Amino acid sequence: MNRKANASSWKFASIKSYRAPAACAAVAEQASCSSLADLTTIRASSTAWSLIASRGEVSAAVSSVSDPAQLRSASDDIKELLQKNHCHPILVRLGWHDAGTYDKNIEGWPKRGGANGSLRFDIELKHAANAGLVNALKLLLPVKDKYSRVSYADLFQLASATAIEEAGGPRIPMKYGRVDVSAPDQCPEEGRLPAAGPPSPAGHLRDVFYRMGFTDKEIVALSGAHTLGRARPDRSGWGKPETKYTKDGPGSPGGQSWTVQWLKFDNSYFKDIKERLDDNLLVLPTDATLFEDPHFKIFAEKYARDQGAFFKDYAEAHAKLSNLGAKFDPPEGITLEA
Ligand code: HEM
Repeated sequence: MNRKANASSWKFASIKSYRAPAACAAVAEQASCSSLADLTTIRASSTAWSLIASRGEVSAAVSSVSDPAQLRSASDDIKELLQKNHCHPILVRLGWHDAGTYDKNIEGWPKRGGANGSLRFDIELKHAANAGLVNALKLLLPVKDKYSRVSYADLFQLASATAIEEAGGPRIPMKYGRVDVSAPDQCPEEGRLPAAGPPSPAGHLRDVFYRMGFTDKEIVALSGAHTLGRARPDRSGWGKPETKYTKDGPGSPGGQSWTVQWLKFDNSYFKDIKERLDDNLLVLPTDATLFEDPHFKIFAEKYARDQGAFFKDYAEAHAKLSNLGAKFDPPEGITLEA
């Protein structure tokens, strides 16, 4: 494995999990941050938060039922955004982090978490696991401005599914009509998303993803989303500041990608983790465990040799993820097929 290349990551692993910069997450706690990277992130993010706060509407109690025509137009606008900004990965991550707070053991909406647009509120954006996602929200706000009849919850999931498809991935069988939470006190508490370097990665993944109602197959398939994007030390604490694959972008340069073509959705994530031939590529402990745990390995091996199988399972798991915890209006949801 590229342990040497990831020496800095592994070092971080002992002191920084996915949730590790928690002490630095709140702007009010800036003084407690020890590294320059943390401070830089916080400054950049604070500026973004101020920009968003000055617009007012993100914190406002907006709850709108989505309209099919507006959803279609918003999808076109998102495609333009993707072409211009190469922001596929961060939009996928935004959708995942809004939905991935779901707890199937909690009955009521919105307490159970999930795809309800709560990630637009500062309090949740400032959760350590969400470091950097304010940039994704900033990209989507002009689209939200244009389409008042598209809920935030739908917009986040529409952006994520569109990004997967535009990156060459499978068509995701999506439905829309998610109702938004209306106030920050409806956000989930911090700590529901997975850590990248827990003591027992396989057990941790099962704890977190079983809580959302996923199976081992779905955990492995969803992890394949890391075929897109990069980790940045100044956000999550993981990855290198840059590699030969990221130093020139596209999009904002830097970070460490899991794959060479990190804007292309294919099965190279599984091939690369299996082979570990390239020190420039990232392997998180939670990625590595997909080939170490005997049951995860069955699916990881399959996806490494069969992209069609990966695409099929990914599309189903992604659609399921996008619906977690959501309240639909109408209850059956809205499909956008022509
Ligand atoms: C299995 C547990 C998971 C862990 C521990 C994990 C952890 C991470 C970490 C540490 C980063 C780097 C963030 C940064 O530094 O900016 C990241 C990025 C990313 N994650 Fe995950 N993740 C997991 C699952 C998922 C899932 C299920 C999806 C989507 C379905 C996903 C999509 C992404 C994407 C697309 C990026 C790249 C973001 C970018 O380039 O801006 N991850 N993840």
